[in-house]
Amino acid sequence: MSENNGDAVPMDEFDDADTAIDFSVPFVPESLTQLYYTPALARLSAVQRLRYNQLYAAHINEQFMFFEHDIGNAISRALLSSGAVKPQALRDRLQVMIDDEEQHQGMFESINRQAFPELYANCRHVFIRPSTIARHLLNACVQHPKAMSFVIWLAFFLEEASTEFSKAVIQSAKAGAAIEPSFLAVHVRHLRDEVHHVRLYPEIVRAVLSDSSALARKINGALLARLMREFLAPKRSGIAVIDQLVREFPDLNAIHDDLRRAIRSLAGSPEFYDAFFAAAKLPSLHGMFGEFPEFSWSAAGAAARAAARHR
Ligand SMILES: [Fe+2]
Ligand SMILES: [Fe+2]
Repeated sequence: MSENNGDAVPMDEFDDADTAIDFSVPFVPESLTQLYYTPALARLSAVQRLRYNQLYAAHINEQFMFFEHDIGNAISRALLSSGAVKPQALRDRLQVMIDDEEQHQGMFESINRQAFPELYANCRHVFIRPSTIARHLLNACVQHPKAMSFVIWLAFFLEEASTEFSKAVIQSAKAGAAIEPSFLAVHVRHLRDEVHHVRLYPEIVRAVLSDSSALARKINGALLARLMREFLAPKRSGIAVIDQLVREFPDLNAIHDDLRRAIRSLAGSPEFYDAFFAAAKLPSLHGMFGEFPEFSWSAAGAAARAAARHR
């Protein structure tokens, strides 16, 4: 990857104006993509590697939109409408977070459409398509966040993990990596608001769970641990990025299955889990496990279980 002087990197926030996207540089650091953690990356040409990076960045934007719309905001709205969160100051902050997320979704959608008009002409999601059953189950749970409190912990995790992702993009640019300016600007704007969201979640957790029973916590903690094992393992969306790359480069058909297998193999890769989900990268979330030990889980544990399944 080409390098530049980090001090000269413009750290502007995303501006919705139609700006030309620079396709000669990566859209995110390569170390934030899945294939980076597999030997399969070396089988791509430089041009294919760059395109994989760019498609992967669009997939990340879709992921953020899905998390914010279908999980975070759905939960926040249900907490407000059900009265599960009572203090007015906290309710006001929840509403601000909902508004921030609405703006972020517009921003992610807008840049994906600017960069890939052919893919996003008629839809917001190309790579993130949960199965119908998963979507129905998720929708049912996020509507009842007080009873199904494990979904609040899922949202908490997503807030902090996505904040870390944006931080890593920005730090990489500051360290000299060439990152496409509009994609970098999206992460600058995203990070500005997300740091406040990460600070808000411990208060939401305390407000909702302070009067919950020991049994309810135990059941929800078990549900969370099971969900996280499924959730963290790269599957459908990462493979959909590979499938799109192969459609664009038909000569990759010969290694299509190998590339798909490489993504699936990450479910048992401690290095991959560590890079994104290590406790040190999620300090707020892990800090709350001291107060609510029933909800404690670790990516290392998830990786070890997945590795055992893959053996
Ligand atoms: Fe957001
Ligand atoms: Fe957020």
